[in-house]
Amino acid sequence: MPDILRTVSELRAFTAARRGQGRRIALVPTMGALHDGHMELVRRGHEMADDVIATIFVNPAQFGPHEDFSAYPRTWDADIERLAAHNAAAVYYPDVATMYPPGFSTAVTLAGIAEPLEGEHRPGHFTGVATVVAKLLLQSLPDVALFGEKDWQQLQVITRMATDLDLPVQIVGVPTVRDQNGLALSSRNAYLSPAQYKIALSLNTTLRLMGEKFRYGLSAPTAENWGRDQLLTLGFDSVDYIALRDAVTLSRPGRGPVRALVAARLGAARLIDNMAV
Ligand code: PAF
Repeated sequence: MPDILRTVSELRAFTAARRGQGRRIALVPTMGALHDGHMELVRRGHEMADDVIATIFVNPAQFGPHEDFSAYPRTWDADIERLAAHNAAAVYYPDVATMYPPGFSTAVTLAGIAEPLEGEHRPGHFTGVATVVAKLLLQSLPDVALFGEKDWQQLQVITRMATDLDLPVQIVGVPTVRDQNGLALSSRNAYLSPAQYKIALSLNTTLRLMGEKFRYGLSAPTAENWGRDQLLTLGFDSVDYIALRDAVTLSRPGRGPVRALVAARLGAARLIDNMAV
């Protein structure tokens, strides 16, 4: 069974002891409700380090006032079983008062990269993410920290933040894990009814076709409009964005690699996905 660490001092004692033995540490930050996508982060962590520490913290600071913080799935027993089966050395499971003690006043905010797409539709979200991830990295000082490519913009924001703050950690993105029908695994897929699940499958095919249209000469705005119409026709309730962006800066496509990204709503679920163009 992994060690369960509840406080910063327990976490620091654990990592100091392992580091003292010359062991490399991989950190896998999560909000729990673990699925095979998270387990892929743990598996990759084992390839890059001697010990994998997972963190489970449903971070209130990254949810908007009308978002699903209270409803967010919490599956502690199953999570620990999965982490044990995947040989995680420890689970850091702080409570809100440990992460945000009374008087907490600091925020990590990124300009540019954090502003469009998720930043526009979830104001304050990336400040919440960057602040908590900076804290988790500084509390544990891992050699490597792993994040899923499913949250592509989040991965770029965290990479930028770690570079800008000279955090001595390697940030690693791990490719999205999909189910047998191509839907990106997400804790929020649990909100989908069987009928909504069928509609949700068109997210990934629409992204792919939009990318192909762009590659074969359609302008980005025209390809994006096609993608939005397609998702609405296929049954999504609304589309927050479907966009072609520079893969690293998230600005309009230029000379560098391009990424197709989407966030769309279906009933209680807000689904995101992305892929290389
Ligand atoms: O991707 C997530 O699960 C969260 O945004 C993270 C990185 C654990 C920060 O709370």
